[in-house]
Amino acid sequence: MQPLRGELAWVTGASRGIGRACALALARAGARVVLSARSVEDLQAAAEAIRAEGGEAYVFPLDLLDRAAIEACARRIEAEVGPVSIVVNNAGLALSAPFHRTTYEDLERMLALNFVAPFWVVRSVLPGMLERRHGRIVNVASTAGRTGHRYTAGYTASKHALVGMTRALAVEVAAKGITVNAVCPGWTETDLLEGAVENIVRTTGRSTEEARAQLARMNPMGRLMRPEEVARAVVFLADPAAGGITGQLLGVDGGEVLA
Ligand SMILES: NC(=O)c1ccc[n+]([C@@H]2O[C@H](COP(=O)([O-])OP(=O)(O)OC[C@H]3O[C@@H](n4cnc5c(N)ncnc54)[C@H](OP(=O)(O)O)[C@@H]3O)[C@@H](O)[C@H]2O)c1
Repeated sequence: MQPLRGELAWVTGASRGIGRACALALARAGARVVLSARSVEDLQAAAEAIRAEGGEAYVFPLDLLDRAAIEACARRIEAEVGPVSIVVNNAGLALSAPFHRTTYEDLERMLALNFVAPFWVVRSVLPGMLERRHGRIVNVASTAGRTGHRYTAGYTASKHALVGMTRALAVEVAAKGITVNAVCPGWTETDLLEGAVENIVRTTGRSTEEARAQLARMNPMGRLMRPEEVARAVVFLADPAAGGITGQLLGVDGGEVLA
């Protein structure tokens, strides 16, 4: 069954990790998929993987820290592929440090990529969605968008901002055929997680295995999430059958925020 047939999905951060899994899962559900990130080769490999399964994929490289480039990319997608009906704001960056050692540059980069970029991606496609009275916006936030963990004040603030935008926009466009939701993963097996593992190894002297086990222990299931599990939630929220769900946070975290 392909419930997303006829939809065009734009996924940011689609070159690897959760975004790549989302692009593949959306294509399997029948959507045509536009993949954006900076690494052209990785994007092309992801697009090839989709095409190998019979899906349609388009590569639009983009640096999300460049606001003008976001708007230009949206216009090119519209002109060359068609109107975007599903947006998955997934690209993100997690840097951790004790609060007093967090640099302004790191704080600014996380806010720019995790919050400002999604804001501008949505701004660039929202007028078209409003006109067509049809749209699905899914923001990949984090358990850090719902709660606080030590050494992540900048990242946590950026994800709370994304969650705030999700809720406010959801209400604003609720009567216009557009839903806005967030998926909140716990620690998930991607390069981003490897960065966190390296950081723990560097700052505590623990082994890589101990560091991974430490992160897995934060999860009541005692394991790390898989990108495909997060992608499943994204596809669910993009489905026409989820049309009554808006402004919600869907955790894919093994119960982490309840523990
Ligand atoms: N992994 C976890 O444990 C976890 C947990 C909770 C939430 N999340 C969230 O899930 C999302 C995806 O994370 P992930 O784990 O899949 O991360 P990842 O493996 O590090 O991938 C990050 C993605 O973002 C893209 N990206 C980074 N900077 C960019 C820029 N300036 N312009 C365009 N694209 C950029 C990267 O592509 P290029 O480098 O090619 O540009 C890549 O595709 C993030 O928002 C993250 O905060 C992850």
